[in-house]
Amino acid sequence: MDGNGRWARKRALPRHVGHRSGVKSVREIVETAAKRGVKYLTLFAFSSENFKRPRDEVSMLMALFLESLQREVEELHKNNVRLRCVGARDRLNLALTEKISAAEALTADNDGLTLVLAVAYGGRWDIVNSTRRIAERVAAGELDPDDIDETTVESGLELRDLPDPDLLIRTGGEKRISNFLLWNLAYSEMWFTDVLWPDFRQRDFDDALEFFGKRQRRFGSTPEQLEAVKC
Ligand code: IPE
Ligand code: MG
Repeated sequence: MDGNGRWARKRALPRHVGHRSGVKSVREIVETAAKRGVKYLTLFAFSSENFKRPRDEVSMLMALFLESLQREVEELHKNNVRLRCVGARDRLNLALTEKISAAEALTADNDGLTLVLAVAYGGRWDIVNSTRRIAERVAAGELDPDDIDETTVESGLELRDLPDPDLLIRTGGEKRISNFLLWNLAYSEMWFTDVLWPDFRQRDFDDALEFFGKRQRRFGSTPEQLEAVKC
């Protein structure tokens, strides 16, 4: 969800107004995703590296997460949304981690859209954690290094129980991953748009879905092999 700052600057407003405005897009996109039958939506709200931002902006964003959770959780629950947060919780303040845990517990049994919020998240951080778990198991004699495979690495990742993303959408014009789900995005389709996040609405999401619908996903196979499977 990129482009909040530029959205504000274009209007000669402070950056925090852009972040606040971005929350409206979150609401609309979560609703649209649920309506379109999307099962899993992961929003990259705040990266490990975003802690480098000025202290005021970081604390404003943390306050905005807390406020938005407080305001939205009941409604999400009513709409059968299951909420999850991934990222370094030890870098968040207590009020926020408590609210996140409460929201996860409240919505744990919902079976509609799974909404994952990536906060204080980094793809490298995630892979490092998984690696550490593997090393611990090897050191404890529970795992033979020869038995380490992709499933072993996956089993230590934050999103180990979710399918890999089919589609990545990045708003705000940059064409890079910026340390999002590095492992999980291996075969995702990528949709980059210049639309700034606070302007990103249902029609933009639908454009991305339309693009996705036209992709042939080969996962390394040839087009001919895929045709043969269809017959
Ligand atoms: C994305 O918008 C929001 C967060 C990273 C929290 P930015 O704040 O990165 O907006 P730009 O890139 O400055 O426009
Ligand atoms: Mg940005």
